[in-house]
Amino acid sequence: MNPLSKESSIGVIGAGTMGAGIAQVAATFGHNVLLFDQNADAIQRGLDQTATGLAKQVSRGKLDELQRSSILSRMQATTELKALAGCDLIIEAIVEDLTIKRELLAQLESHCTASTILATNTSSISITALSAGMTHPERLLGMHFFNPAPVMKLVEVVSGIATDTDIAEKVHATAIAWGKKAVHATSTPGFIVNRVARPFYAEALRILEEGATDIPTIDYLIKSAGGFRMGPFELMDMIGHDVNYAVTCSVFEAYYRDPRFLPSLTQKALVDSNRLGRKSGQGFYSYSENSVHPSPSICEQQPLPKKLSVVGNLSIAAPLLKRAQEQGIAIDQQPPATASDAGYIQAGNARLMLTDGRFASERASVENQPDTVLFDLALDYYHCSGLAISVAGQCSDKARNDAIGFLQALGINVSQVDDSPGLVVMRTVSMLANEAADAVNQGVCSAADADTAMQSGVNYPLGPLAWADKIGISATFNCLMHLQQSYGEDRYRPSPLLRRMNFSRTQFHHTDVQESSPA
Ligand code: NAI
Repeated sequence: MNPLSKESSIGVIGAGTMGAGIAQVAATFGHNVLLFDQNADAIQRGLDQTATGLAKQVSRGKLDELQRSSILSRMQATTELKALAGCDLIIEAIVEDLTIKRELLAQLESHCTASTILATNTSSISITALSAGMTHPERLLGMHFFNPAPVMKLVEVVSGIATDTDIAEKVHATAIAWGKKAVHATSTPGFIVNRVARPFYAEALRILEEGATDIPTIDYLIKSAGGFRMGPFELMDMIGHDVNYAVTCSVFEAYYRDPRFLPSLTQKALVDSNRLGRKSGQGFYSYSENSVHPSPSICEQQPLPKKLSVVGNLSIAAPLLKRAQEQGIAIDQQPPATASDAGYIQAGNARLMLTDGRFASERASVENQPDTVLFDLALDYYHCSGLAISVAGQCSDKARNDAIGFLQALGINVSQVDDSPGLVVMRTVSMLANEAADAVNQGVCSAADADTAMQSGVNYPLGPLAWADKIGISATFNCLMHLQQSYGEDRYRPSPLLRRMNFSRTQFHHTDVQESSPA
């Protein structure tokens, strides 16, 4: 499908944070853009916001003066809604209110011809609900930009029940022509990003509420082992707890209180006490002048144990061995007792294994190995600077220290968290993958679009489904089954798609048969 041509004119309604940014994106591509707001001051502020943003780009050498002035010259403002009648595509970015948006759409339909495409930047209102009562509901769709629109790459193109597929394809192609990563989504609560991202916050809050470790340590592990740019608490503080909590509540209610999306009392307490994060000077962290954020808990230095061996295949964690080799640390390789045994590192007295979503104490008991120490998932075991471990209740101090000493000898900062299922990163990533898998299973989006959305919309280091492929579908599924058993909660139920893929031994991004056997 061809995108709208440069000659097509674009209308943008609402000159606030998002509208001004979207107008800039369209004008930068070469469209003439007409910006409407009911408030003339808002239009001026919007145009000023754009002029300041473009001037910054010139000072950074990303744009020259001629480009800056021609972008601005393509942006015109109006306080007359009917002036938008001749536009080919109109994107509304007004207040997030179903009734007000519906009224606006009705007015637009009275001014525009049937061929005008109408898009909404809503982040939470159903496109299907917005289209009710429209004369031509097939021309309405979501065009969900992320803030700041000129910078963030993602646009979710959201189709309601009546949206014309060709129109969705045209808008998708247009967003790509504007330099964006566009993904298709059906209109379901949270679309892709605001739904799939929920466990990033929810699991961190649960780990905190269970007292498994503290806020700076969770943030540290998510960044240093998980490879995310920001920790969940830092990010919630940046977004604002009022906004983040409201999105969680709205998704929770919209999915008829599915426990997967259960809001957190800890976050509610922050909202109730007006500790909204950076904007109020206090959230999980303090942002007052001279405030210093607390440090993560890192284990004290322990000696490298003398006897080291690897039994079986460490699968995704195998790069730890390469890391050891490069440090001149000799490790014996031994075959597993049975082919199905999970690989482990025998570090002195410790049996050091990747978490599979069970408590370390449970594994120690089931496998009759009291000196069991589990380590967490890392995005990249070869480069990670930090890693969590958990220690079975039965484990000796000597074995704990042996496990820590081994990982420290590889140059890794070790944080011991309480014996909790799935530690920090494995649990978070498994739940992100589970949510993305369910979105795919329910026809909300494709696997490729789920991953693109999370990488381009919220800067995840890897798409959650590509990550599940990397961990192994069976290992991801297994982790979720164990989380569900450990907590006895429906919240952790694995997506039927992961269950099916576990048995069919398929992957999200290619159909090769996996090496590991089904759980
Ligand atoms: P904003 O409050 O910065 O701007 C809204 C603008 O719409 C204001 O200038 C206001 O004067 C104008 N307006 C309100 N009612 C109007 C009407 N009936 N007719 C014409 N103009 C009207 O809001 P913001 O943040 O730009 O959000 C706009 C939309 O974008 C909302 O639907 C929001 O959910 C969505 N969104 C917001 C994001 C964000 O991070 N702020 C991210 C993605 C989507």
